[in-house]
Amino acid sequence: MQKEILGCTKCRLAESRTQAVPGVGPQNTQLVIIGEAPGRQEDLQGEPFVGAAGQLLTKMLENAGIKRETVFITNTVKCRPPENRQPFADEREACYPYLLRQLDLIQPKVIALVGRVPAETILETTIRMGTMHGKTMERLGRTYFVMFHPAAGLYNQNLVPDMEADMHVLKRLLDEGTAFGPEKSQQDLSRFF
Ligand code: URA
Repeated sequence: MQKEILGCTKCRLAESRTQAVPGVGPQNTQLVIIGEAPGRQEDLQGEPFVGAAGQLLTKMLENAGIKRETVFITNTVKCRPPENRQPFADEREACYPYLLRQLDLIQPKVIALVGRVPAETILETTIRMGTMHGKTMERLGRTYFVMFHPAAGLYNQNLVPDMEADMHVLKRLLDEGTAFGPEKSQQDLSRFF
């Protein structure tokens, strides 16, 4: 599939990219992290989350005891949108089958959605990050965990403690299979679906 993504011309982003960025990490992993779209550095290097936001993400993962190289990291769209604008709906739609195939192949225990774009694309609902971050959601047999995008922490340092706390919840989820216990999860489900 990597090869297919690298040669993809299904949407206009193919015209302006340097290269597509399919994703990196082991197929045999418990955790998939999904961001928004490649930025400038990612477009140049062909790897997701290698710019400033990526460095913060890597640091926060490591601080919570999650090694970056054990995680499969990808994005909602695999090509950089011009000027780092948000990917349009038709671009997200064109790219979505790749994401689904990646998740089907990997079958991770937890899928972390970092930022509003992956969360709204995959959960198909309006997301308020202020109340949704740090929460698990079950959907179609998959467990999702909503997190702030690391770029948000670069712009607003006040978010960093919450982001770090969420990383620790994520680690617990990976280790124990539950972040809150069944009661809280049920409550989350009924509130958002
Ligand atoms: N932001 C993202 O959402 N993804 C990347 O790969 C890099 C920055």
